[in-house]
Amino acid sequence: MKEQQLEIVFNRQINSNAWLMGLNAPEMAKSARPGQFVMIRVSRSMHPLLRRPFSICGTKDTLMLILYRVVGQGTAIMAHASHGQKFSVLGPLGRGFTFPDAEGSIVLVGGGIGVAPLFFLAQNLKKHRFLFMAGFGSADEIIPVGEVIGTQIDVSIATDDGSIGHKGPVTELLEKYIAGRDINKKAISLFTCGPKPMLKRIADMSKDQRFWCEVSLEASMACGVGACQGCAVKAASGKDKAYYHVCKDGPVFAITSIDWASY
Ligand SMILES: Cc1cc2nc3c(=O)[nH]c(=O)nc-3n(C[C@H](O)[C@H](O)[C@H](O)COP(=O)(O)OP(=O)(O)OC[C@H]3O[C@@H](n4cnc5c(N)ncnc54)[C@H](O)[C@@H]3O)c2cc1C
Ligand code: FES
Repeated sequence: MKEQQLEIVFNRQINSNAWLMGLNAPEMAKSARPGQFVMIRVSRSMHPLLRRPFSICGTKDTLMLILYRVVGQGTAIMAHASHGQKFSVLGPLGRGFTFPDAEGSIVLVGGGIGVAPLFFLAQNLKKHRFLFMAGFGSADEIIPVGEVIGTQIDVSIATDDGSIGHKGPVTELLEKYIAGRDINKKAISLFTCGPKPMLKRIADMSKDQRFWCEVSLEASMACGVGACQGCAVKAASGKDKAYYHVCKDGPVFAITSIDWASY
């Protein structure tokens, strides 16, 4: 983990509310693992004071890619940043995804901007076949994977309004897929990231459908390195700790590790 001043190589809008930033980061791009994140200080002034956490969504040569949605002051500043400008970046941080066994089926399920860490995982699953399912609000919110990581991947899309793909939550695509196979014969490894209701639904499904699942969580983060307690989430009963720090113990967890009733 390092703190570095990284230069913006490009920063462009890719849909109605998502931007893609490429930072020149030879060392971080080399050492980053899918599921890890960075803390970006978006301003030299006191506003906003705290760094903001972002998943690494891919790498390309010396570039580290950050896919982000504008939700507030920090991300609005990022959206206005241009080529040549530098940000102080701390990372790569946290625990990433476990690389799946080559046996069995691999399924990636992302919701909205939650596709970001899964794109990086997909980029690294070169020798594995996998399915990618992604849910968005509507067609204009789709994040085109090819444009982001430069690799064409087939993605099954679900949209809330039915403007493209399956109409309804992306978890319905997953339910259909699981119902159509005998999971006792071939194991499923699932990797997911997205909004809370989606993750909670998948956590529910994982109780009675015996698939193995890792989830990348979001939480409010002040320090990103385990020093402030700001990102605590309750662990499921019987775990070695009562609470986990999302920044240090995660952000990727086995789905069975988390107390979903309190998340
Ligand atoms: C490990 C981790 C990885 C992340 N990866 C990404 C990523 O790859 N791309 C991305 O766009 N975002 C990601 N986020 C979320 C991102 O950190 C926040 O969106 C960002 O910090 C908001 O900063 P802001 O200053 O623009 O908004 P703020 O001014 O901090 O907040 C503005 C509004 O947005 C709400 N908000 C803040 N954070 C979130 C959130 N996480 N989810 C929903 N609403 C929120 C606040 O409650 C507030 O109402 C990640 C978060 C974590 C913890
Ligand atoms: S963000 Fe400070 S402990 Fe996790």
